[in-house]
Amino acid sequence: MSPHTHAHLVQRRAVDVEKTADVGDDYHEEDKQRRRKRPTLSSTLAGLAIIALTVFYASNRAWPWDPQPPSDLPPFIREGIKQCEIIGRPPPNPAPATRERTTSDRFVAGTGAVWLKNATVWTGSNSGKEVLYGVDVLLDGGVIRRIGSSEAVALEGVDADEVDLHGAWVTPGLVDVHSHIGVESAPGLNGGSDGNTLKGSVRPFLRSLDGFNTHDAAFNLSIAGGITTMLVLPGSAGNIGGQAFTFKPRCTAENTPQSMQVEPPFRVQDGNWERTRAWRHIKHACGENPARVYGNVRMESAYAFRAAYTNGKALKDLQDAWCEDPRAQTTPFPQSLEWEALADVLRGNVKVNVHCYETVDIDDFVRITNEFQFPVAAFHHAHEAYLVPDVIKQAFGPEPPAVAIFANFARYKREAYRLSPYAAKVLNDAGIKVSFKSDHPAIDSRYLVFEAQQGHAFGLPWAEALASVTTVSAHTAGLDHRLGYVREGYDADVVVWDSFPLALGATPKQTYIDGIPQLVSPHVGDKPPEAQEITTHGDYSKEAAADVASRGDPDLRPRKKASRVVFENVKDAYLDGVHASAVNAGRVVVNNGEVVCIGPECAVAEDAVHVDLKNGTITRGLITAGSRLGHEEIDMEASTGDGLPYDALAVNSDLLSGVLVHGVDGAQFGTKGALMAYREGTTTGVSWPGSLGPARFIAGVSFSFSTSAPHPLAAGAIGTARAALQLTLDEEGADNNPSISTKLGVLRRLLRQKGAAEDNELGRAFEDAAAGRLRLVVTANSADHIGALVRIKRDIAPALKLTIFGGAEAYMLADELARAHIGVVVAPARSFPYEWSSRRLLPGPPLSNLTLPAFLHAHGVKVGLGLSGIVASSSTRLTRFEAAWAYANAPHVFSKRDAIALVTTNLEELLGLNDGGSKAASSGIVAYEGDFFSLHARVRGVVTAGGSSIDLL
Ligand SMILES: *[C@@H]1O[C@H](CO)[C@@H](O)[C@H](O)[C@H]1NC(C)=O
Ligand SMILES: *[C@@H]1O[C@H](CO)[C@@H](O)[C@H](O)[C@H]1NC(C)=O
Ligand SMILES: *[C@@H]1O[C@H](CO)[C@@H](O)[C@H](O)[C@H]1NC(C)=O
Ligand SMILES: *[C@@H]1O[C@H](CO)[C@@H](O)[C@H](O)[C@H]1NC(C)=O
Repeated sequence: MSPHTHAHLVQRRAVDVEKTADVGDDYHEEDKQRRRKRPTLSSTLAGLAIIALTVFYASNRAWPWDPQPPSDLPPFIREGIKQCEIIGRPPPNPAPATRERTTSDRFVAGTGAVWLKNATVWTGSNSGKEVLYGVDVLLDGGVIRRIGSSEAVALEGVDADEVDLHGAWVTPGLVDVHSHIGVESAPGLNGGSDGNTLKGSVRPFLRSLDGFNTHDAAFNLSIAGGITTMLVLPGSAGNIGGQAFTFKPRCTAENTPQSMQVEPPFRVQDGNWERTRAWRHIKHACGENPARVYGNVRMESAYAFRAAYTNGKALKDLQDAWCEDPRAQTTPFPQSLEWEALADVLRGNVKVNVHCYETVDIDDFVRITNEFQFPVAAFHHAHEAYLVPDVIKQAFGPEPPAVAIFANFARYKREAYRLSPYAAKVLNDAGIKVSFKSDHPAIDSRYLVFEAQQGHAFGLPWAEALASVTTVSAHTAGLDHRLGYVREGYDADVVVWDSFPLALGATPKQTYIDGIPQLVSPHVGDKPPEAQEITTHGDYSKEAAADVASRGDPDLRPRKKASRVVFENVKDAYLDGVHASAVNAGRVVVNNGEVVCIGPECAVAEDAVHVDLKNGTITRGLITAGSRLGHEEIDMEASTGDGLPYDALAVNSDLLSGVLVHGVDGAQFGTKGALMAYREGTTTGVSWPGSLGPARFIAGVSFSFSTSAPHPLAAGAIGTARAALQLTLDEEGADNNPSISTKLGVLRRLLRQKGAAEDNELGRAFEDAAAGRLRLVVTANSADHIGALVRIKRDIAPALKLTIFGGAEAYMLADELARAHIGVVVAPARSFPYEWSSRRLLPGPPLSNLTLPAFLHAHGVKVGLGLSGIVASSSTRLTRFEAAWAYANAPHVFSKRDAIALVTTNLEELLGLNDGGSKAASSGIVAYEGDFFSLHARVRGVVTAGGSSIDLL
């Protein structure tokens, strides 16, 4: 279906708003029906209040209790009766907000009203298919007061700031249903790791609220990505890690954790501590994480849950029995700090969020929910959920749990090995609600919408993709009665986007939380008209079926090969010496791995295979650098990789002293990660020893390799065997490492060496580096550390060819770097203050005019894009997305050719692939159906580096 047909189908006139705004979405309708069926007593009791009052203390079912028990009763009984009132309440079932709700409990006095004019609104209603064109939205009192025509809004008679959106997209604020923001705060410091306790595996009495740091540098970054609410969960080091709480990232005048909460289950009201009628939340975890910390194998985890819930049930039964006849009691109401939260789970008052990856874990937990009869709000991570949708539907409760997954972050441990890029599509097809979540800071929640975009690119329809970060998440977090939709009476949390939010690179122009614009002076650019259109998902039915059939381990090796191929309807070709404009609507002929003719007139051999690229693109093969790809299959499984290189600064062995580690000696081929990257057009990887984890100062020599080669001796498997000398200055968890100045002292000595002490391979490599014969690539993010390197090059090794890898703060020295011909591989492409050394990052739009790569490029620095951190290995298949993203947010700085160079020719130069006497083999060719720069381009043909035929995909 074309985007236009979609747009037509979903279009509603502004005058329909009043009608449609009241139409409940699927959740509410289904909920109401299901709840009617549930054996709760709220509905039946509504009409029985008078009777209830007469039987007053006779039965625990006689809710509501009088909150002020008669004063002639002994104090312990009066106190117990108050507790009976609380535990006797029916589970939370807040009614969806309506236009009668004119003020939010989070309204900040003095906040002015905002009148957003001429918006294109994705409301979230009608199963996510409702879009309102050309409507106005009035934010007042911290709520969405009115949606409608200008005339309708004017009738409200509210004095408001008017903002003309010129048709810009508006969505509900994004809800991140799995975040550790505030408890694993940025920059990462030892003093700020509050997400996991190591004191025990079952800790239902811990509360994320109690460790929530209001100074986390991530709040404003996440707001700049459209995040307006987060469910902040304790970590997964225990089976029951503790209670979770919902927050908005908006900076409050009080600057307290409490004031950032949304709908807290406990609060101080009129000087009294009270349990509200809001949902509580709790985190559970199965599988490897609790196992790793406690020697707590899966069998032990299942027992730990059963033991805990047995205690929770015992407490619940005791309390219920006490409340049967409070006046007859001789002992106080039974309380337990340890087990009250689980008793509350069994009463249906707590949303249970379970971190479970594998089939076995999901199966275990579903059994436990039925044994103890409590529902699950969502299975989180759940990398194998798409393999067992029917098991998920067997979970106890009125509706199947949602599944909160990553779009792509996978293969970092056994549990994560089988995630499919099509998992969201498969689950959605099976009728299971899908959320994308950040697990912030695992993924920077600022880019949560990028998760939804990837899910969409690989098969999830647009309505469900948008719902996956708004309505579905709001429902899981128990907040969809006020959040997750653009509806009258809902919280005034909305995002104004610079494009359709699922267009690659979509960026908020403004984020409103509680009606307050959060971006003080946003830098907003205009995106082209095509970026405003609703997109259609790719058809990946075959691939999804293959992933399911192979249980997540499909054969990804290249199979279909051809030696002569004609690519038809090529719109752009970005190859060496070829200008894109010259080949418009052209044809590209590839014979035996070489492009032999470009243009509409090219002659075609009879036996050639024709491939229609549908206005598509041809580029060189893309390059990825900075991950463990090529050295390791599963990051957290040492046996699947090359391991750590020795530490030259700590060596105490004659055998090791002076040894230069060659990354190529530990090279691995045919891994799942490499083949997945290859299938998305990343044909070349660059790796060096120990790229992840406790990196060594002197890592060794990097190499480049083909992502589709089966083994090291296959043709073209190894591109450049000796690419660059890799050093690491900034390290994760640098506590026990030698100082930066110690390392730079060693570097000075090695660059300046004369004589026998360094007459070994390591010493000679530095001699080559000092003479400019071998490129030196140094991982560093701090402007101070980068500045020190510039001084060393200037003072003692002017011939040094130096590249900075990382470079979060490099923009501060852009002019100096350009002058010294020092290039930067920006890694990750979109910075986050993971460490202190990158806290002064350049955030890019809407927080700064330019992105980091654009700023450096505009200042004459040669730039490439690389990867770093735990998401690196699985991100190698997203190289194209990163280049397109860089272009989409700086089209006035980069040409499209420049943007492709960021992941091709610039990386070749900056990582030394063409130096050292071993000129890189051609990096291959990739043919995409559709535009390289759109979300939906799709690889159809690949010539691998040095290859002589085309793989057809
Ligand atoms: C709304 O914005 C669109 C796109 O800029 C424009 O074509 C249209 O005329 C605007 N409508 C109004 C009423 O201003
Ligand atoms: C976030 O931005 C607001 C301005 O909207 C500012 O007042 C606040 O100090 C910032 N918070 C942090 C932690 O930088
Ligand atoms: C290719 O582009 C031309 C010109 O813009 C357009 O008419 C045609 O429909 C496009 N083809 C496809 C398959 O998108
Ligand atoms: C943003 O950057 C562009 C490109 O360097 C420049 O032309 C423009 O003046 C900048 N705008 C602002 C507001 O700094």
